[in-house]
Amino acid sequence: MRLDYLTIFPDYLAPLGLSLPGKAVESGLLEVHVHDLRQWTHDRHRTVDDTPYGGGAGMVMKPEPFGEAFAELGVGAGTTVVFTTPSGEPFTQALAAELSTRERLVFACGRYEGIDQRVIDHARDLAEVREVSLGDYVLNGGEVAALAITEAVVRLLPGFMGNAASLVEESHAGGLLEYPVYTKPPAWEGREVPAVLRSGDHGAIAAWRREQARRRTAERRPDLLAPSALEDGSPIVPAV
Ligand code: ADE
Repeated sequence: MRLDYLTIFPDYLAPLGLSLPGKAVESGLLEVHVHDLRQWTHDRHRTVDDTPYGGGAGMVMKPEPFGEAFAELGVGAGTTVVFTTPSGEPFTQALAAELSTRERLVFACGRYEGIDQRVIDHARDLAEVREVSLGDYVLNGGEVAALAITEAVVRLLPGFMGNAASLVEESHAGGLLEYPVYTKPPAWEGREVPAVLRSGDHGAIAAWRREQARRRTAERRPDLLAPSALEDGSPIVPAV
């Protein structure tokens, strides 16, 4: 998979060189290119924004640098352009899985009041476009959102994770939040590991985990248990 980032703050994306994504680059599984959007400006001040037509507060990102970037980077069929914006569709595990099937993702990171709408419309003429929000809150820009989306997507690539089974069991893979987990020692600060987990009874352990996952989901994310969130009307539980 090839990943490109268009940003006015390339340093924000430095973590891509660290840890697992860094290793995936070394192994050839991933190709990562971070681009300073200002390289596609031509004025002395390297201007990337201007005042909004119709008035209002803040600045809007100009279309020309994005247009030149798309042309130079060869954005076309086979590319998905991801615009990170609080007005986008919510980012979910399902969307991460979908994006992980793409050959190439180009992240366009917005700042200020957003990007001129014609950039998104133009990108749609060239390639697949997804406008994606990390959640119902406003960040200073799209870079942190692009990082979070990248991490969720890249770890789903075949060969990226050491332990594929942990992908199946974790939160959201099965429609419920993950059950609580414990490790040694068996008692710590006066708190005991639940006896069932030390019983060796695999049926009882699976039942306990299912119940804990259901309870935790009902408490914290009742929306996930609503009938519309379930494919067949019954809770889907993590594979244990
Ligand atoms: N840019 C600013 N806020 C954002 C959000 N919540 N999601 C994605 N991009 C953003």
